[in-house]
Amino acid sequence: MPSNTPLPMLGGLTATEFLGDYWQQKPLLIRGAFPDFESPLDPDELAGLACEEGIESRLVEEHGKGGPWQVSHGPFDERTFARLPERDWTLLVQAVDHYVPEVAELLEAFDFLPRWRRDDIMVSYAPTGGSVGPHVDQYDVFLLQGSGQRRWQLGGKVADDAPILDGIDLRILAHFAVEDDDDWVLEPGDMLYLPPGWSHHGVSQSDDCLTLSVGFRAPSADEAITSYADYLGEQLPSSRRYADAGMAPVSDPGEIDDDAVERMRGLILETLDDPAQLAQWFGRVMTQPKYADQLVASDQPTEPNELITALHAGEALMRTPGSRFAWRALDDKRATLFADGDGAECSLPLARALASDTPLDAKLLEDEGAVALLAALLDAGSLAWDGEFDESST
Ligand code: SIN
Ligand code: CO
Repeated sequence: MPSNTPLPMLGGLTATEFLGDYWQQKPLLIRGAFPDFESPLDPDELAGLACEEGIESRLVEEHGKGGPWQVSHGPFDERTFARLPERDWTLLVQAVDHYVPEVAELLEAFDFLPRWRRDDIMVSYAPTGGSVGPHVDQYDVFLLQGSGQRRWQLGGKVADDAPILDGIDLRILAHFAVEDDDDWVLEPGDMLYLPPGWSHHGVSQSDDCLTLSVGFRAPSADEAITSYADYLGEQLPSSRRYADAGMAPVSDPGEIDDDAVERMRGLILETLDDPAQLAQWFGRVMTQPKYADQLVASDQPTEPNELITALHAGEALMRTPGSRFAWRALDDKRATLFADGDGAECSLPLARALASDTPLDAKLLEDEGAVALLAALLDAGSLAWDGEFDESST
């Protein structure tokens, strides 16, 4: 997608303008981002998903039997929905893009952003008055109105230690005041972009309010450092250690002196500062699946000959919904393909093809290393034969 084409989904801004002026910086309201938008699912279908085992869902009741802002976790059943009041509650279902292909298709519109930054598409349903309270998320999010109306109010950027309400299972801000008249009712197809840390409050204005949250994640420094240290720790030989050859006799044997601290610092910084290792870890961590248990490894290893025959016979492979792929060049011919938290070296064109949304057919076999890599991805569950994946089995 050319970066200098005005995009209706960005209110006529180009991707370059949006990224330069809004992304991670300030909110953007986009009226008619998806003109004539038809919601890819309805409230009953969303409730159906929330009743399935293995699908993450939550119910937020503002005036629950167990107290205000009561949160319960799915799977739910018909009795749950039958007992709910007429208003003031919200049902939220995570990763609906993994289960409903028409929801996953929406992600194509966000291809001006790296795919490995995506989290998922969460869908919420609320009757009139339903909300999850004023709060802050640490993710970038595009809030697309699917059906009905929701009123969004924004309260500006909020400090990390802003007080939250005590005694409930939700992080609701204790203080919220609308800033800069940022107060709008969104209609189907309207979309609101919010950067991380921006307080917001969305209240349903109708009994058919569906909101799709297209979320983008960024690892926190604490997660990144712990995870990179774990990754490096597995690669380092135990002989690589703190070393003090040539040191002077100590004046006080109980002291940790500046030289000792500097030697330790040197060891840590030299070990960490390895761009090639860092890239290998980064690709793995950013492609880890959201739900590791949804990645089903095959019981039997794929037979290379059967794979070749099937592809030549016109069968196609598909990327498993929820699987994450990315690539990084090693030089101008080779690359690492990252898939679901693992990495494999292969040709650059093959890595690019696998991490794109192009069809996975017999053309791939023109690449020398394709058979072994495709077989490994099938065995790991990152790829599946098209048609083999039964949506109802999720
Ligand atoms: C909602 O859909 O009700 C909440 C979405 C959000 O505020 O992040
Ligand atoms: Co939010």
